[in-house]
Amino acid sequence: MTIDQLKSAYEAAYQKPATDIFFAPGRVNLIGEHTDYNGGFVFPCALSFGTYILLSKNEEQKINFRSLNMEAVYSLELTQLSEPLPNKAWANYPLGVFAQFIKRGISITQGYDILFWGNVPAGAGLSSSAAMEVVTAYALNELFGTGYGLADLAKIGRAAEHEFAGVMCGIMDQFASAHGKADHAIYLNCDTLEYDLVPVKLDGVKVVVTNTHSPHHLDSGSFNDRVRQCQLAVEQLNTIRPIQYLAELSQSEFDQVEHAIVDEVAHRRARHVVGEVQRTKDAVEALQQGNIEKFGLLMNQSHISLRDDYEVTGLHLDTLAEAAWKVDGVLGSRMTGGGFGGCTVSLVREDAIPMFIEQVGAEYTEKTGLVADFYIAEIGDGAHRVL
Ligand code: GLA
Repeated sequence: MTIDQLKSAYEAAYQKPATDIFFAPGRVNLIGEHTDYNGGFVFPCALSFGTYILLSKNEEQKINFRSLNMEAVYSLELTQLSEPLPNKAWANYPLGVFAQFIKRGISITQGYDILFWGNVPAGAGLSSSAAMEVVTAYALNELFGTGYGLADLAKIGRAAEHEFAGVMCGIMDQFASAHGKADHAIYLNCDTLEYDLVPVKLDGVKVVVTNTHSPHHLDSGSFNDRVRQCQLAVEQLNTIRPIQYLAELSQSEFDQVEHAIVDEVAHRRARHVVGEVQRTKDAVEALQQGNIEKFGLLMNQSHISLRDDYEVTGLHLDTLAEAAWKVDGVLGSRMTGGGFGGCTVSLVREDAIPMFIEQVGAEYTEKTGLVADFYIAEIGDGAHRVL
């Protein structure tokens, strides 16, 4: 949809024009998976697609939520903004953001008519929920004049996800949505929130996102299980070495203390995290040196570790990645995001893309009975005002 079409849709919904429009993108993570809530490094980039919010004040003392992507409409009194709605209502994502502003002492005395539209495929592991949280936080920050910085807005979005969606995610998705920059990836230390924007200039190589169309189920509890298993590994390591996060350990330090993790599952989870943090550092260094082949190999190793040690891949993601590895001109391919379905991300030489789509698509359908979708990712800007 164009901005003009969105404006017309708003007028059709509320019989008046929108006064403000904001945008926040989805993201694709190039490497550094399940490291963020372990205090490690991640390397995501913002996509050119995302979520728009259109708003104007109303005289009703109500917050009205509509979305062009969802049928359900919600109309809430200003006194109803601190508790989640039942039955996994989509409005919990923006509502959770309102609740965070209230928690931070901002009193909401003005009603708004709100309309969302997004073009991040939902359930694809490309952070459609983070885009909705960040665009809401960005809009409220502007409208209320609260002066929060982008990192605060990312934290507000993460808190909304924890408290209103029940997913104990890390900061990566919301941070990438807030801080993205066209043609750059964000090398983020999730412990200190220090980051560098690294140019992704890939001569003749494209970032291809492939959707399994097997929805990931972040709220199914498997994600929170991983968070708990990592916490257990930290607790067991603490019997011989005080650390707060797994990512504090280098590979050689881990080799010396890993025997303290007596829980076998927690041990494998920790092994993934420590290895993935090192791979992420190595991958960013390789990219900065123009060694894209090495970057690709590290992506493949990341997938294998997520498959064997972290166990968040499954038939759909494994089929896509393993089919991609066989195609000439593919530098690397791995699952991206939380896992359990969703998307892979691949680096593919431009001239090999038609072959890639044909071979990977055919093998995927043969093994799963589903049809995969392929997008050539454009790396876009983070959250911003549109009108
Ligand atoms: C989801 C979470 C992120 C991160 C990834 C895995 O996208 O929201 O915080 O943990 O999974 O890297």
